[in-house]
Amino acid sequence: MLGMVFTEFMEMVEDRFSPAIADSVIESAKLPHGGAYTAVGYYAHEEIIALVVGLSKQTGIPVPDLVTAFGQHLLKRFSEIYPQMFASHTSLFSFVASIDAEIHREVRKLYPQAQLPRFTVLEIEERVMRLAYESPRSMEALAVGLMLGAAEHFGEQVKISHTAGTVEGRPATVFHIDKNT
Ligand code: HEM
Repeated sequence: MLGMVFTEFMEMVEDRFSPAIADSVIESAKLPHGGAYTAVGYYAHEEIIALVVGLSKQTGIPVPDLVTAFGQHLLKRFSEIYPQMFASHTSLFSFVASIDAEIHREVRKLYPQAQLPRFTVLEIEERVMRLAYESPRSMEALAVGLMLGAAEHFGEQVKISHTAGTVEGRPATVFHIDKNT
């Protein structure tokens, strides 16, 4: 996983909790490199899980809640670092529908080794969208946080749930994004 994800995670832990908690989370994860992440390096994606589990133990906050909060934080940071990726969109549904063909495509140009999921739009209506997510990393909670962060960015309120489903016969997670809150 791209180092930027780790550096952003550690910054969020320092800001929302404390530098002392950040240090002890790094220590408890027993990382081979001692937690010295660089934004353009690549690290095993299991490491982010070890860090989140450590933070959950320190704070008592459940892992999925922490991951979703991190997704929201990350989306905000992406909008600051890569404003051009948001410029051609005015709504959550249009933005989310463009992840594979535009957003992650640009990400892959910048970082050829990026390990990205596949998103397929199953249905878009005025107030409801269904989106299939396929990834061997199964980072549903992160996807929810990123989408909630994007909703916030476009000033929209949504409810997001997910169920097991299929896309073109393959097993997938299906997100239901609902503006009828
Ligand atoms: C709502 C919009 C988005 C969603 C739902 C989304 C979803 C995800 C998910 C779930 C992952 C984790 C990897 C996996 O599941 O296999 C991921 C990775 C990533 N995404 Fe997105 N993403 C969104 C927008 C963006 C934007 C705007 C950027 C950058 C400008 C971005 C850059 C990245 C990067 C750098 C990674 C890590 C790749 C790696 O570690 O190798 N994403 N995305």
